[in-house]
Amino acid sequence: MKITLSVIKADIGGFVGHSSVYKDVVNKVQEVAEDGKDKGIIRDLSVLICGDDIALVMTHTKGVDSSEVHELAWNAFKEGTEVAAKLKMYGAGQDLLADAFSGNVRGMGPGVAEMEFVERKSEPVVVFFADKTSPSAWNLPLYEIFADPMNTAGLVIDPSMHDGFIFEVMDVYSGMYISLRTPEELYDLLVFIGATSRYVVRAVYRKSDGEIAASASTQKLSLMAGRYVGKDDPVLIIRSQAGFPAIGEILEPFARPWLVEGWMRGSHTGPLMPVSFKDAKPTRFDGPPRVIAAGYQITDGYLIGPSDLFDDPAFEIARKDCGLLANFLRRQGIFEPHRLPPEEMEYTTLPKVLEKLKDRFKLVDEKKAFIK
Ligand code: F6R
Ligand code: MG
Ligand code: MG
Repeated sequence: MKITLSVIKADIGGFVGHSSVYKDVVNKVQEVAEDGKDKGIIRDLSVLICGDDIALVMTHTKGVDSSEVHELAWNAFKEGTEVAAKLKMYGAGQDLLADAFSGNVRGMGPGVAEMEFVERKSEPVVVFFADKTSPSAWNLPLYEIFADPMNTAGLVIDPSMHDGFIFEVMDVYSGMYISLRTPEELYDLLVFIGATSRYVVRAVYRKSDGEIAASASTQKLSLMAGRYVGKDDPVLIIRSQAGFPAIGEILEPFARPWLVEGWMRGSHTGPLMPVSFKDAKPTRFDGPPRVIAAGYQITDGYLIGPSDLFDDPAFEIARKDCGLLANFLRRQGIFEPHRLPPEEMEYTTLPKVLEKLKDRFKLVDEKKAFIK
């Protein structure tokens, strides 16, 4: 049976500030999406929260980019926004950039990760959900999970993974993408995905049979809105086991934190902290950026789960390291490299400040300045 797994997420208002979401808002979003389940638009639903973002994890048989499923998510976020606005939650409707739905939520603000596959004998999947960061946060772990045998032993040991994987990499500024095969084009892949400000991995396929292995949201809110409205706060789906990386191989990159863009005002570099559902509330300097991992078994198109996969003391060291990295970076204050470089700051609120000061610059008289 062909099943589609669609994860659609949005920030429709924060409680308090940008740190979390209020229960009444979540309840309304869930109620509308459940109604879609009763009407047969989707087969099953699970609602996830990370920081000030809500994700609808939905299964159905309508394929990717189904306007019916996208409209359901849009309506759920719209009605949730009405509750958020009434309660004066912070930034109510923040990510809903359009007034009316027009066939597909892509380009309208919400982030989307979707994949369609024939359900296997047993279908374990992981949905990652991050707050206070951008889609390029997935570049490093996706490389490790699908292309680094030092992380994923299965690339060496499991014959069905031994041929490697194909990465689809998107240039977020041009909207073009390139397919690169690993291991043979590994260094070419890293040329692009190491440049996290421009390139993001949008999907990964198993080379031996072309099966979809991973799908990520690539939406950059600031590029859609033409101004800074909040961080993208991406989602990522990965299929696991029996010819795909094991759950432990998928989670392993998160045991050693790395730096991502986002954090306070979407303007800083910070460590991505793997947390349990209950700790997905970024409050220190609006961060540090958080990521949760929700595990599901998909059974006859129904979602059994979520299992809170970072709720494991084995990730305590990573969390502690994130705290230490956060201290170290915070010492740097408003100075780079804690603050993002100027090219990245163009997509924050800083240009408005620069605009006010631009006429104050005077040409340096080289003789006076440099000859005593
Ligand atoms: C980052 C984020 C927050 C806000 C910050 C200022 O993604 O959402 O760090 O940028 O709290 O928010 P405003 O400008 O709404 O007061
Ligand atoms: Mg927000
Ligand atoms: Mg957010």
